[in-house]
Amino acid sequence: MRSVIDILDLSVEELDELLAVAQDIIDNPVKYQNACAHKKLATLFFEPSTRTRLSFEAAMYELGGNVLSVTGGNTSSVAKGESVADTAKTVSCYADIIAMRHPKEGAALVAANNASIPVINAGDGGHCHPTQTLADLLTIKREKGGFGLCGDLKFGRTVHSLINAMSRYRDIRFILVSPEELKLPSYVKNETLKKYGLPYVQTTDLLEYLPEMDVLYMTRVQRERFFNEEDYLRLKDTYVLTPDKLKTAKTDLCIMHPLPRVNEISVAIDHDPRACYFKQVLNGKYMRMALILKLLKEAAV
Ligand code: CP
Repeated sequence: MRSVIDILDLSVEELDELLAVAQDIIDNPVKYQNACAHKKLATLFFEPSTRTRLSFEAAMYELGGNVLSVTGGNTSSVAKGESVADTAKTVSCYADIIAMRHPKEGAALVAANNASIPVINAGDGGHCHPTQTLADLLTIKREKGGFGLCGDLKFGRTVHSLINAMSRYRDIRFILVSPEELKLPSYVKNETLKKYGLPYVQTTDLLEYLPEMDVLYMTRVQRERFFNEEDYLRLKDTYVLTPDKLKTAKTDLCIMHPLPRVNEISVAIDHDPRACYFKQVLNGKYMRMALILKLLKEAAV
């Protein structure tokens, strides 16, 4: 049974296919409105979410399917101590496909190993968030140039998945901007940038490198992954993008953020034509529609 736990579970050809299907959904929505009739998506979210859960659910409704939903650890038998494995086996009796978010790294893989239906990882701890990367790829639409990632590169799972995906393209130079304490983990660097010999710089100085960037991917400092509130408070506002800082940036810069934003991008930038983060939100729905279609089609064979 095919599941998507990591963005690397999808080949470059499959990413291209998903991007093409998402574009076709945007252009011809009526063609897809009954594509998942009588199918059920279970959204199992054991960590907070607005975009990912609602976009999965909107995606399934727009494909003509139905949704079963568990939100929060207290509303299901997980609160009574039921394991992820047993939850996955149980939900397989009711639904055709699962989207799961869980605070523990590896939880989605455990679910996939025990479910008899496809499982999509909707974020597992600080590890990965492959469907956010699908939304990001539809938004970026370019695979070359200066690719800046700024903020919490240690705990930001969207960053880890996106670097994994972008490492497959050869004409990119990564500019990794973070406080010393929140640098990209060595395992991500070794398995991606170093493995493929991709050029990168690590810096604490956003303004020095901003003029070189074609994409700037801002991220929130992940409060929920800190052991110590004092450290979070000290680091949370290290990078705040404001209109004056953008004066040296390229005129066609693509400013992204997986959201939720706390204070990383001033709302004064929201109407700047370079702001792409709400387009990213919408693109998430189209890419999740394309992924649901692909996995259900494969499961039916
Ligand atoms: N980007 C993202 O995962 O947002 P949510 O936490 O709201 O799902």
